[in-house]
Amino acid sequence: MAIIKVQKGTKDILPDEMPIWHFMEQKALEVFSKYGAREIRTPIFEATELFARGVGDTTDIVNKEMYTFEKSERSLTLRPENTAGVVRAFIENGMHRLSAPVKLWYKGPMFRYERPQAGRQRQFHQVGVEVFGIKQPSADAEVIMMAVDYLKALGLNDLTVELNSLGCPSCREEFKRHLKDVIRPYLPQLCEDCQNRFEKNPLRLLDCKSPECQEIYAKPEIQKVIQGDFICEECSNHFEELKKYLDILGVKYERNKLLVRGLDYYNRTVFEIKSNNLGSQNAVCGGGRYDSLVKNLGGEDTPAIGFAMGMERLAALIGDKLDEHLTAYVISNNTEEALKLTEELRNNGISAEFDLTNKKFVKQLEKASKVAKYALILGEDEIAKNEITVKNLDTSEQKTVSRQNLNELKCMII
Ligand code: HAM
Repeated sequence: MAIIKVQKGTKDILPDEMPIWHFMEQKALEVFSKYGAREIRTPIFEATELFARGVGDTTDIVNKEMYTFEKSERSLTLRPENTAGVVRAFIENGMHRLSAPVKLWYKGPMFRYERPQAGRQRQFHQVGVEVFGIKQPSADAEVIMMAVDYLKALGLNDLTVELNSLGCPSCREEFKRHLKDVIRPYLPQLCEDCQNRFEKNPLRLLDCKSPECQEIYAKPEIQKVIQGDFICEECSNHFEELKKYLDILGVKYERNKLLVRGLDYYNRTVFEIKSNNLGSQNAVCGGGRYDSLVKNLGGEDTPAIGFAMGMERLAALIGDKLDEHLTAYVISNNTEEALKLTEELRNNGISAEFDLTNKKFVKQLEKASKVAKYALILGEDEIAKNEITVKNLDTSEQKTVSRQNLNELKCMII
């Protein structure tokens, strides 16, 4: 009988890969909790209208990429992203009554009917943050800091933060008008996608990947409009203040005036974090401010900003770097002493094991070097002197510490 295979653009996450996924999830909880964010889990399918109204019906996501189906005469859609779902939950559960800022984070699968390639799947996972209730740029800085902090906690570097401001609806209209005016003469030469976007969503022309279109957009008169600062004074002050805060926080960024993002809900700040070690799908994080979305979806007027990261892309970057070794392996022929020390280490947050079968010392050492970073040796001598010999299993360096002073030991091995 023919084997039924996994669907194109979807993947099993196998037991061998789980440590990386647990690591990403655990770090998300740790880092986002530090900022006062709380986890939210929303359903995987929602009313189709939520995404049409939320993400925007001029976007590729809504026009081409949604998994939509009918049940009991209702049109439902597997979520292509989670900002719209979180906003729906925020409104429906009256979270605007909570004291601002309301900081929420989430993780889970998303679905987009895209052409699969390395780094791009039809079912993928995102981890994300949404912060509601603050219009000041301090919130933008904090949200970008949360993203950077999380990536740092995953041990990822060689990343670039790209930043732009899309202005507010009124200054953006002005920009769109100028952009259309300079591009109009070239309209017949643009790709089909750009021709379609020209009226509906001209900002999206800027991130077209077609070399022919890019050549046109590089023309001096078009670049003059793109590079000119179109945003109004208020939006410009907001952006300048954000940049000042990022400088204070030591977050490096690059201004990218072509960064417009593929979802309709953004205003003012937009950002992406790109890796220099992935192929063409190199954005690990995308986000921005969406001050009108809560109101557009029927809630109270509430400013908001957030981001989401593609977990498969993060996993690819973490790769083999994840160290699954225990911190300590206790070596002793005295089971009582080994048991006591191992338990004490675990109670102090140090991962540890000892040999439950009382094998010979050499065998225990062999095992330790496979599974741990440090061997903690409790031989007869050590037990008599109330000491522990600590052996670094990488460098083979040895040092003796007092059994009484767990702090000294902790400083050595954590
Ligand atoms: P997005 O840029 O569409 O933004 O997606 C965020 C991240 O999800 C991307 O940077 C990428 O890492 C990952 N991603 C997107 N599509 C795929 C795919 N087909 N396969 C693998 N990874 C993918 C949003 O989704 C917004 N909701 C972000 C946001 C939150 N803005 C404000 N709050």
